[in-house]
Amino acid sequence: MNYETLKIAKKDGWAEVIFNRPEVLNAINLAMVKDLSAAIDELATDEDVRGLIFYGAGEKAFVAGADISELVERKTSDALSAINAGLFQKIEDFPWPTIGAIQGYALGGGCELSLALDIRLGSESTQMGQPEVNLGIIPGAGAPHRLTRQVGPGMARELIFTGKIIDAEECLRIGLINHIHPEGEVIEAARAMMKTILKKGQMAVRVAKVALNAAVNTVDRRSQMVECLGQGMLFDTEDQKGRMTRFLERKKAKK
Ligand code: COA
Repeated sequence: MNYETLKIAKKDGWAEVIFNRPEVLNAINLAMVKDLSAAIDELATDEDVRGLIFYGAGEKAFVAGADISELVERKTSDALSAINAGLFQKIEDFPWPTIGAIQGYALGGGCELSLALDIRLGSESTQMGQPEVNLGIIPGAGAPHRLTRQVGPGMARELIFTGKIIDAEECLRIGLINHIHPEGEVIEAARAMMKTILKKGQMAVRVAKVALNAAVNTVDRRSQMVECLGQGMLFDTEDQKGRMTRFLERKKAKK
């Protein structure tokens, strides 16, 4: 399994999916969407894999969101194809348990991706949020329903309306992550949890995931439609183009 934007490490009973664009804080570009989609398909049918652990290459980020240099070019029709929403649904539907080991930033689409995982473990450097409004768009890949389900409607609204980034303690307090591990130890903690899970009745774990997804992860299709239509509208505004261009120009000015 060779991918341009990911590393896949097969372990004893599980696989690790490593976002591998550390130079842009593992931002999700279209190449990564394609790679992830193909990797998930392949891993879902691999008989040696009974769980997945996700983390980011480098120390600064899990995933800092969709790649803004591509996002600035997106059009209404791109939003209608719900690229990230479809991918995150596939991740949520992965037949075996999935754990995110979150070191550093999990922002925008990175936060939404983590919400499609079964378990999120944090570290002291974890910072999470939905900063899309800073860029003139909304989180259009599941946050309105998955974040609301995870942290409750009041906190989800606060995060999405203000775009603020919260630290590990606050993530833990509102239930966005399950634990805070000392810096540098979160991946090992995820592995230890995976090993515990792998010792249990494997069909029981698999059936439990189906039952949990049926109970709480049922995607609200109407909410998904509104996200996708709304994002399509926002991708055509001057505000979105201006805000994203300013982010990219800030980047050039630093050089
Ligand atoms: N898309 C594209 N590039 C991104 C990115 C993203 N979502 N997030 C970070 N990067 C790039 C930066 O432009 C920078 O590239 P450069 O070295 O070529 O200038 C590099 O990653 C490192 O990021 P930098 O901004 O220098 O790090 P920082 O520590 O100063 O700030 C963040 C970190 C996460 C606060 C800042 O990068 C940020 O706000 N990123 C965007 C987050 C976001 O809005 N995500 C949602 C997108 S919908």
